[in-house]
Amino acid sequence: LILETRSPEETRALGRRLGRRLKPLDLVCLFGQLGAGKTVFVAGLAEGLGYKGRVASPTFALAKDYRAPKLTLHHLDLFRLGPGELGNVGLEEYLSDDGAATAIEWPESAEAFLPSDRLEIRLDVKPDRRVVTATAAGARAAQLAKVFDNLAQR
Ligand SMILES: Nc1ncnc2c1ncn2[C@@H]1O[C@H](COP(=O)(O)OP(=O)(O)OP(=O)(O)O)[C@@H](O)[C@H]1O
Ligand SMILES: [Mg+2]
Repeated sequence: LILETRSPEETRALGRRLGRRLKPLDLVCLFGQLGAGKTVFVAGLAEGLGYKGRVASPTFALAKDYRAPKLTLHHLDLFRLGPGELGNVGLEEYLSDDGAATAIEWPESAEAFLPSDRLEIRLDVKPDRRVVTATAAGARAAQLAKVFDNLAQR
């Protein structure tokens, strides 16, 4: 499923659309280079859940929690995770929190430890836009990905 966004606001709107549908234990993984728009997308997720506060990359803390009325969103950014440090993150606790959904930027180093049912969002930077690819691995993720169906390029 491939979409395009031409501004940060459009990327945020995609996130918002998905955020409205998130349920406990849902997992969204965000791939893409530095500045691709992963955090912008997560800001949309939080907004879609009804969170009113600011969203920024949890670069130093590795994780931030956005407590929305309906659901908490755990926002992880594993970019600065050193080799062998994954055990300190407490990944399983976030992923098994049944009052929360989780979004992970730079999930590559944790991939082997993530549940297989997850929605993967990849952002590719083009000169004038972002190409957003959504890949559903698993039944729940496929259900979530449907929010993008009528926006897809092909
Ligand atoms: N179509 C677009 N979608 C999202 N962001 C865009 C778009 N066009 C331009 N931008 C700009 O790109 C930047 C994306 O920043 P953001 O922090 O979301 O990236 P990131 O993928 O989280 O990077 P990092 O890997 O450093 O965490 C912002 O400055 C935003 O204004
Ligand atoms: Mg980021």
